[in-house]
Amino acid sequence: MVAERTYIMVKPDGVERGLVGEIIKRFENKGFQLLALQLLSPKREILEQHYADLKSKPFFGGLMNYMTSGPVVGMVWAGKGVVKAGRVLLGETNPLASLPGTIRGDFCIDVGRNLCHGSDSVETAEKEIGLWFPNGVVNHERVLDKLIYE
Ligand code: RTP
Ligand code: MG
Repeated sequence: MVAERTYIMVKPDGVERGLVGEIIKRFENKGFQLLALQLLSPKREILEQHYADLKSKPFFGGLMNYMTSGPVVGMVWAGKGVVKAGRVLLGETNPLASLPGTIRGDFCIDVGRNLCHGSDSVETAEKEIGLWFPNGVVNHERVLDKLIYE
């Protein structure tokens, strides 16, 4: 059973542009396991907690407006090294610096419309999972893991 988990969120632009399936597909194709999924219109309060470390940044107001502009799709994914590998799948914060083959590299241009969020450490991931899924998530041992892990 792989314990590492991360919180991945399709931002309002990604939902509006119909890229939810595309983003899910990349995590599924890699072999990671989906443990939770929800579509919701987030209130400013939860986003202020989620991005608390950025509160003093000049772009924070713009980030709050962006993130409350429509529904988001939040997910919990599990697997070996999923936090770091998830961020590799997403690409760089600035989409123009992201390589083709990454989500941000393939689908967007501006840093303030960069489609998706991924936790930046195992500790942050567990905090974010608790924030967005206060009732907990699935804990399921996949049969498939025998084909993914040696
Ligand atoms: P995220 O948390 O959304 O996965 O993004 P990240 O780790 O790659 O980058 P982070 O530093 O945590 O920033 C969070 C989000 O704030 C917006 N941002 N705008 N205008 C700017 O310079 C700027 N810098 C960051 C982006 O939407 C970024 O994803
Ligand atoms: Mg971040």
